[in-house]
Amino acid sequence: MSSIADWATPNPVTENRSGLIGKAVDRYEGPLKVTGTAPYAYEVEAPEKPVHGVLVTSSIARGRIASVDTKAAEASPGVLLVWTHETVPPQAPRGHKANPRSQRASAPALENHEVLYFGQSVAFVVADTLENAKAAAALVKVEYDELWAVVDFAASLGLAEDPPGEQDVRVGDFEAAYAKAPVKLDETYTSPIQNHVQMEPCATTAWWDGDKVTVNTSIQMVKGGQHALAETLMIAPDNVHLLTRYIGGGFGGKGQSYDDLVLSALAARALGRPVKVAYTRQQMMLGTIHRPATIQRVRLGANPDGRLTAFALDGYTHCFREQVFTEHFANFARALYAAPNRLTGHKLVKMDIPPAGPMRAPGEASGMLSLEVAMDELAEQLGMDPIQLRLINEPERDPETGKPFSVRQLARCMTEGAERFGWSRRNPTPGQVRDGRTWIGMGMAAAIRADYLLPAKAGVRITADGTVTLLQGMTDIGTGTYTILAQITAETLGVPLSQVKVEIGDSNLPPAPGSGGQFGASTAGSAALDAGMNLRKALTELAVGDPRSPLYGGPADFVTFANGNIAIENRSESLAALVARAAPEGVYAEGSIVPPADRRDVSLHTYGAHFAEVGVDMDTGEVRLRRMFGVFSCGRILNAKTAKSQITGGMIWGVGTALTEVNAIDPRYGSLIGQDVGGYLIPAHADIVELDSMFLDEADDKANPMGIKGVGELGISGAGAAIANAIYNACGVRLRDYPMTPDKVL
Ligand code: MOS
Repeated sequence: MSSIADWATPNPVTENRSGLIGKAVDRYEGPLKVTGTAPYAYEVEAPEKPVHGVLVTSSIARGRIASVDTKAAEASPGVLLVWTHETVPPQAPRGHKANPRSQRASAPALENHEVLYFGQSVAFVVADTLENAKAAAALVKVEYDELWAVVDFAASLGLAEDPPGEQDVRVGDFEAAYAKAPVKLDETYTSPIQNHVQMEPCATTAWWDGDKVTVNTSIQMVKGGQHALAETLMIAPDNVHLLTRYIGGGFGGKGQSYDDLVLSALAARALGRPVKVAYTRQQMMLGTIHRPATIQRVRLGANPDGRLTAFALDGYTHCFREQVFTEHFANFARALYAAPNRLTGHKLVKMDIPPAGPMRAPGEASGMLSLEVAMDELAEQLGMDPIQLRLINEPERDPETGKPFSVRQLARCMTEGAERFGWSRRNPTPGQVRDGRTWIGMGMAAAIRADYLLPAKAGVRITADGTVTLLQGMTDIGTGTYTILAQITAETLGVPLSQVKVEIGDSNLPPAPGSGGQFGASTAGSAALDAGMNLRKALTELAVGDPRSPLYGGPADFVTFANGNIAIENRSESLAALVARAAPEGVYAEGSIVPPADRRDVSLHTYGAHFAEVGVDMDTGEVRLRRMFGVFSCGRILNAKTAKSQITGGMIWGVGTALTEVNAIDPRYGSLIGQDVGGYLIPAHADIVELDSMFLDEADDKANPMGIKGVGELGISGAGAAIANAIYNACGVRLRDYPMTPDKVL
């Protein structure tokens, strides 16, 4: 493929003759999960009895380890090994890449005597049982020489700098246009640190066979984990077999590996037996990445008719001093609304706190919390409906690059959503609608999220019994990847779904980038389609070249695949019969997707609109979601059920963002205050009473050969802002500091 134009050619998936694509098919691995028999990383059965490792983590933000006393731990029952930075086996220095093609650099554990954040691993204990390991870990005594640390974000804005290689992006002359604008808004919005809170913590079961290590771990990116471990242990990537078959949530937090991977492998080698290591919930909150806090300033200048003349979104976020990450909260705004004069950018404060990193819709999820409330505020100033204001500022082309949009149905998402939600019943004046001692309000927000496509490969095999197996080093983080890959493969080869198997989460399989950035379905699916098409070619050649086949002699161009058969008009045979006779060892084909350069010539996004109705208790200030509805346009929907589940999960995360989810640095220690789900409040079932969504039909032939786009991150984008706007409409309190806890409402 050299051009996106080639993608306009119909393929079995876009033609979808059997109707399987888009169908609400149950999860491929659902029975295993609901019966508790899907082996997650910590539960994988090892070839012999495993032992258990436990991490000991730092209790200061920054400093040096002065001494570690391990004597009591070593003498504790069942203890097999205690490691500190002085005794851990040699590892490659951090960031080192021996293999230039490596997808991840080395990440040594217990690297040296330096403590760089609270919650960093400082010692490691292995014992015969988890209980003995935990008991011994509690006996490890670490003394520190503390150093001054930057732990207070809001107080450290003076230290902020441009993210590496980035500057503010300017179009036109924002300052001049803003100064002249007849209608103006200048407000600041803040969002806190958020944690991923995956149900399954990070965990690894590792064992060795000669010089090869097998690691079962919970990670979103197969190749990344494989290479990080190989680099750290200074062994060939081929000597690392990484498996990640089932993953209990990722959300970006498992885009990288953590110390469980390296330490389990090192300990398994040292002890000559399998080792299991899992993070505790507290260690997950502190020692894995989080979404950083933001301070965002929005300035809008408009004409009285609502047309934006000047637009700015800029502000501050933070990251770990040693590992730069920017929560790009302003990037999305570059493609959203028209305005001739524009300013967007980020300033980064480097801090001595646990590393920040990507979390579901990195950038959009926090950035839309500011701009989409600001648009609501501006609409009120103008005396205009917030949907109308957004429609007036719909751009014809990408407002900064001038590129044409591939498909942009944002306006339809808003108007369709308004209709179905009953937006016309909204009273624009706050505090007018009551239900007893509860104020009722409605709010809406737009949603936009970037759409990516990455290079990937896939393999597909058919065996003599007709079973078709899709093989790919892809992951399913709970999103439905197994299921959609089965659907694509079944449709491509014209076989029933029951005849298809999916094997993913294995570093020995053809590589795919994994799950992240809502690129998983489009990327892995495109490669799976190509592999399936190549298998069709191989099977066609086999049939038309085999004198025993009813298809012998062709014409090959007229071959069709349906119902498990290969056919030319009324001549047909089953794929099983063909393979059993002509290639009893089976037929295997590979395929790939390589994004063509001209895909960058179009502005490719997914879009949506959120509608929320809340009740605000007049006496307590408690906000309850009453109902929520979203309309989304995000390419071809592969599975109505799993796609909707993704959107639902994103919207619910938006509810958490708006109402309850907050973590914060304890300035005394540089730790995170919320260290469990008792203190870090995510929505529970009782919080979500009525939440629904729908997808608009969308055929985007510029996205990839099947027109698939991401759904995993779109649902959270803008969701919290719709609730913030509903709160204002209910009670007239404009909250600009997330989340909207009762103390802020009253
Ligand atoms: Mo994602 S937050 O890019 O896994």
